Amino acid sequence: MRPRRAALSRRAFGRLVQQLEQHIQVMTPENLQNRVQADALHPAARADVQDAGGTATASTPANPRKDAKRYRFRAPETGDGAAIYKIVEDSGVLDLNSAYSYLMLGEYLADTCLVAERKGGIVGFVSGLVPRTKPETLFIWQVASAESERGRGLAKRLVHAMLSRPACRHVRYIEATVTPSNKPSKRLFRALARDLDAGFTIGQGFDADLFPGEGHESERLIRVGPFQPAASA
Ligand SMILES: CC(C)(COP(=O)(O)OP(=O)(O)OC[C@H]1O[C@@H](n2cnc3c(N)ncnc32)[C@H](O)[C@@H]1OP(=O)(O)O)[C@@H](O)C(=O)NCCC(=O)NCCS
Repeated sequence: MRPRRAALSRRAFGRLVQQLEQHIQVMTPENLQNRVQADALHPAARADVQDAGGTATASTPANPRKDAKRYRFRAPETGDGAAIYKIVEDSGVLDLNSAYSYLMLGEYLADTCLVAERKGGIVGFVSGLVPRTKPETLFIWQVASAESERGRGLAKRLVHAMLSRPACRHVRYIEATVTPSNKPSKRLFRALARDLDAGFTIGQGFDADLFPGEGHESERLIRVGPFQPAASA
């Protein structure tokens, strides 16, 4: 018996054409380019691409419950210096300090620094200090997440974990300097201010002419606070 051919209604045919058109549009080189860029972006930045007319694909969102067990946070040890140095080097935006300075984090500043481990490797860190003259302020020197871990809340969790350490028991303010071009960094501190229900200000930090040579942007001073110290919350 000959198979009966299903007749396509005019409406169904219209829908099919529409779908094909959409598919063809997504596959234009320009849209494909947007898609690739969007995939490499932080989820929050993906929204910006979409706003700009790009076709960001919905990638697997980070699962907060699963991610809670993804990392192990611990104080750095001297032997972590090289791995921290590598994360800073790979970031491409942070000032890369001497290898010696990253050895010092584990050796002399471990109380106010943290590393995040995943599967035994270091994938993020925060370095900071609580100045003796400003015991209510945690100055965050550098914070970074490995590229593979961005957009999962790692940097935020590192700072929150830092605030709950004994060395931060009196801390009600966070200070950090950021360059105006580092938008992810600014977003991180804004998000922290929101989470901590605290104020957020940007003021004068280190002017460009304080740096030797040419080409260093001015650093603006970000201040988050006041907030309730984590230990007393
Ligand atoms: C800045 C940096 C540490 C953020 O790390 P991360 O682990 O991806 O950050 P989180 O996932 O914890 O995000 C924290 C907040 O910042 C936002 N954010 C982070 N990166 C962003 C980006 N590229 N675009 C838009 N928003 C971004 C997040 O959406 C989140 O806000 P939310 O809670 O409102 O959603 C990371 O991009 C990095 O290592 N950059 C290079 C080093 C650097 O610039 N360090 C900061 C200066 S010391």
